[in-house]
Amino acid sequence: MPQDGNLDIVRSVADLRSRVKYWRDQGLSVAMVPTMGALHQGHLALVRTALELADRVVASVFVNPTQFGPSEDLSRYPRQEAQDAGLLDQAGCHLMFAPKVEEMYPDGFATTISVKGVSQPLEGAFRPGHFDGVATVVTKLLMQGRPDFAVFGEKDWQQLAVIRRLARDLDLPAEIVGVPTVREADGLALSSRNAYLSPEDRSVAPALHRALQAVAEGLKQGKAAEELCHRAAADLLAAGFASVDYIDVRDADTMAKVLKLSRPARILAATKLGGTRLIDNIGVEP
Ligand code: PAJ
Repeated sequence: MPQDGNLDIVRSVADLRSRVKYWRDQGLSVAMVPTMGALHQGHLALVRTALELADRVVASVFVNPTQFGPSEDLSRYPRQEAQDAGLLDQAGCHLMFAPKVEEMYPDGFATTISVKGVSQPLEGAFRPGHFDGVATVVTKLLMQGRPDFAVFGEKDWQQLAVIRRLARDLDLPAEIVGVPTVREADGLALSSRNAYLSPEDRSVAPALHRALQAVAEGLKQGKAAEELCHRAAADLLAAGFASVDYIDVRDADTMAKVLKLSRPARILAATKLGGTRLIDNIGVEP
């Protein structure tokens, strides 16, 4: 059982670096779990994986303004640092890095990391600039903490693919590790946004995971991706979803379009239910 009572909190890059150096001097390995806080069991699964991989685990809690669009919910994004610290402590995490915006983006900040290709379709098309913000903050976090491992969720599959590309392209020394999506018993992927769903919408929400599974079944039977996705989108609208931004089959690494299943692929979807945007994805192999 992990012990609680050991979580330390730092807010400056200098303090983060000195804690990590202290561990390194003892020959200990380090894993990092970047988050925006409002932690749930999905985030804690990443912390548990990190604890299996490395001797010491740092979780960052930073609501990164550069990855929110002008019309998105930055000011509304839930902030509950004390509760997050308690959950990290219980999970056995060693250090929480919770910088202020000025620490991450000091006056005169002028650099953006932009990953082409894999970041352009799907979320990249619907949320312009989002992945630039993600790539920039993740690069900063990995340079600040210089962990041996950095752990991310498959829940945000395209984000994981962007970060893998980024780490390879910039020779970032951390090994990027993906963790399977944690779901409710009815299939709904855990997300801090699920709290915004009305009880009625909450009962409709599992249809998203079922729609992805139906596309996967059809692909395995040799059916064409486009028609399957078209039908799945219609089913989601009929089930009560307000809109479907996309539901699509893509190469799992490059996010290039897949017409028929010939190698590992990912089915990815983004939808709106009530006023809440829900995304999900599953893998499918030939
Ligand atoms: P956030 O949405 O807080 O998610 C932090 C990490 O938790 C991400 O790697 C995400 O994929 C993972 N995660 C969320 N829900 C999950 C679930 N149900 N199962 C498994 N993992 C889950 O993603 C971000 O923050 C930010 O973009 C960040 C990478 C921190 C950069 O700011």
